[in-house]
Amino acid sequence: MRYTAVDSCLVFLPMVHGKQIITVENLMDADGSLHPVQQALVDTYGSQCGFCTPGIVMTLFALYKSGHTPTRTEIDDALVGNLCRCTGYRPIVDAGLALAVHTDRKDKFSRTEEETIVLLRQIKHESIRYESCNQLYHRPATLHEALVLRRNSLDALVVSGGTDVALRVTKKHELLPEILDLSAIPELKEVVSSSESIVLGAGLSLNDVRPAVRISFAALAEMLDVFGSKQIRNLGTLGGNLGSASPIGDSLPVLMAYGAIVRVMNCDGTRDIPITEFITGYRTTACRPDELITSVILPRPSASVIVRSFKISKRQDLDISTVSAGFAVQLDKKNCVETCILAFGGMAAQTKRAVSVEKFLAGKNWTRDVVEQAASIVKNDFSPITDARAGADFRLIAARNLILKFWISTQQG
Ligand code: FES
Repeated sequence: MRYTAVDSCLVFLPMVHGKQIITVENLMDADGSLHPVQQALVDTYGSQCGFCTPGIVMTLFALYKSGHTPTRTEIDDALVGNLCRCTGYRPIVDAGLALAVHTDRKDKFSRTEEETIVLLRQIKHESIRYESCNQLYHRPATLHEALVLRRNSLDALVVSGGTDVALRVTKKHELLPEILDLSAIPELKEVVSSSESIVLGAGLSLNDVRPAVRISFAALAEMLDVFGSKQIRNLGTLGGNLGSASPIGDSLPVLMAYGAIVRVMNCDGTRDIPITEFITGYRTTACRPDELITSVILPRPSASVIVRSFKISKRQDLDISTVSAGFAVQLDKKNCVETCILAFGGMAAQTKRAVSVEKFLAGKNWTRDVVEQAASIVKNDFSPITDARAGADFRLIAARNLILKFWISTQQG
């Protein structure tokens, strides 16, 4: 049994098929005693307002049910999505730390867990077609079915996680007439690791991608650490982030730095598209109307390639990037640049490489002087916009400084 906290406002009803839903109203025991998580919050005075407290309780509940004693870092990471700290953050963290005394993690759900598993197993893993008077929702259970549905319903909106699309419903009150939801397809959630590459299923949640890439693709893991919050990462997927082709999609620059390949499929077969060719413009991709993204292939970089990711935002966690970057450099024995990729998000209508800077650096000595000169021409590559997050000038300065920051990071072993 795996207990996961998610943002309920990002969940469409058919997505919960086959799952047990636990809300804050469920936690109290039949005899009126509070759940250990609720009791810990009471004991440490960790309450917030009536909007925030239920979310905090459920976040700590999922942590409690993870079965091990969370570290301070894990508690902080879990609570990132419960943003408001009106009444103080420390007592809430204290409540999380206080749960360490419950080593057996027994609660009312443990007592009925076997029964619940039997009930859940009785729900067939099957495709769902859910129809109302003006909406149609497909939730195929196999990749084959999804591809056939895609071919036959070219206008259906493809949803993989839905963290972007759901906001169109909850914030903009849009009526989405037809949805093709890929969240129930096991083939899209596989990780295949070999000596040459790691292949990440497009339907893997961003939270599940993190441990899979932590050691070999650390710059991607680090970017995912500051990607939304845990409750969002439990829903959002790599394929969804690529498919939405947002100019500020956090995964794209670092995937470019790793030379990722996007695998797409239709009923006739498979195509592999280098990620630099995959994004074709503002929220557009090279994916054809009848194709679905099935996986992302990350070739293992040679030991001499240095890859880093950076994110500039107004706060560290749970924020949209103002500028993001994925950089890679390979140096020869004389400390000269052999290959170099400098990819930026937030600087143009699409994720884009700083081609002039890369050209300038090719073959040159990787020294501070040279990198400073190179960084100063980043303005030739981009004409960023001014928006609520930052002015165009700020973005250019941030981009220039990130290139220098990259160089500094390469001097620290
Ligand atoms: Fe809920 Fe601040 S405690 S809005």
